[in-house]
Amino acid sequence: MKISEKISSAEAIELEDKYGAHNYHPLPVVLEKGEGVYVWDVEGKKYYDFLSAYSAVNQGHCHPKIVGAMTEQAQKLTLTSRAFHNDILGKYEKYATEYFGFDKLLPMNTGAEAVETAIKIARKWAYEKKGVEETEAQIVVCENNFHGRTTTIISFSNDEGARKNFGPYTPGFLKIPYNDPDALEEVLKNNSNIAGFLVEPIQGEAGVYVPSEGFLTRAKELCEQHNVLFIADEVQTGIARTGKLLAVEHENVKPDVLILGKAISGGVYPVSAVLANDDVMNVIQPGQHGSTFGGNPVACAVAMAALDVIKDEKLAENAEKLGNLFRRKLDDYIRNSNIVNLVRGKGLLNAIVINDSEDSSTAWDICMKLKENGLLAKPTHGNIIRFAPPLVMNEEQLLDCVDIITKTLQDFEK
Ligand SMILES: Cc1ncc(COP(=O)(O)O)c(C=O)c1O
Repeated sequence: MKISEKISSAEAIELEDKYGAHNYHPLPVVLEKGEGVYVWDVEGKKYYDFLSAYSAVNQGHCHPKIVGAMTEQAQKLTLTSRAFHNDILGKYEKYATEYFGFDKLLPMNTGAEAVETAIKIARKWAYEKKGVEETEAQIVVCENNFHGRTTTIISFSNDEGARKNFGPYTPGFLKIPYNDPDALEEVLKNNSNIAGFLVEPIQGEAGVYVPSEGFLTRAKELCEQHNVLFIADEVQTGIARTGKLLAVEHENVKPDVLILGKAISGGVYPVSAVLANDDVMNVIQPGQHGSTFGGNPVACAVAMAALDVIKDEKLAENAEKLGNLFRRKLDDYIRNSNIVNLVRGKGLLNAIVINDSEDSSTAWDICMKLKENGLLAKPTHGNIIRFAPPLVMNEEQLLDCVDIITKTLQDFEK
């Protein structure tokens, strides 16, 4: 079968089912084209993308500037490994560190790898700078976190599906409730071996839980007080998604370690990064961490173009404006709804909570109906549907989407 050969949705799904591992449960839609806020399936039906590949496609599908940077670089040099220098990595590192306000960047490929990188940096910093006895370092994490799928990361997840039968688990993590500064204070007060506090500024996967105002500020203060690194995982919330370049900026908090992924490439290529200042990043020396593809020339070109687009097109401002409008419109609907309890979120990272038991299929059924009506979204955990369109959406398109969503929900009202 040639790559260019046309196949139907049913055939594509059958092939994946037969030859691919069953590690996902996708909505039964087979996409073949994307442009801006739209995607098309193989039968030619057009949809609004209301997931943006889990907030990776913030700049919209196939943004010409980003795709152009990729194809141009791909024709020149794609991979050198870090055995040699290349002429674009340093330019990218200068660009991105100035963009986010840190001394140094460590380039990786996926979000989970960047989280692993941050954990390694924090542990090494604890031994070499804080004076923690070797092998004793602990990292504080939050209940219902989602930081990726590696063995270490699932070790500190409390999602049974993600963990069960993947043990033995990596030790060295202490879990506290999310959005609970008193619990953080308690754990920091009673343990001098803590290297870092790893936190999502908004818990995306868990169902778009926005912490109370002041939580991030207080957490950062506590970390400073106890000489603990504040590690922000902005893989999902970062790069304009929540209405600011970074979600921590809603509280003017500066992390000690910043983890980025997804939209740093506009969804065009796997790019992730860890940023920190010299006092932290300089604990990493040659041979202690790396990746064959991390910092490759294509990734660097793509990331610079993707970050340019965020600023040039004022996507944070647009996310802020359209997010407010979206929640206002959904709130209007919810006032007279039995099927939706609430809408929550920041910028264009939002979710609605369905009024049904956690294990009912209502959220899935609503997403199936949304698909029929031309909009693609997916339930997160339980009965929660995440709404995260590309940030290049305009007001007219957003109102059209609100129309599709509310009309669909009407079919499910009891
Ligand atoms: C907050 C957060 N961290 C890390 C990850 C993992 O990223 P990746 O799937 O690229 O490994 C995700 C993915 O959804 C995420 O939302």
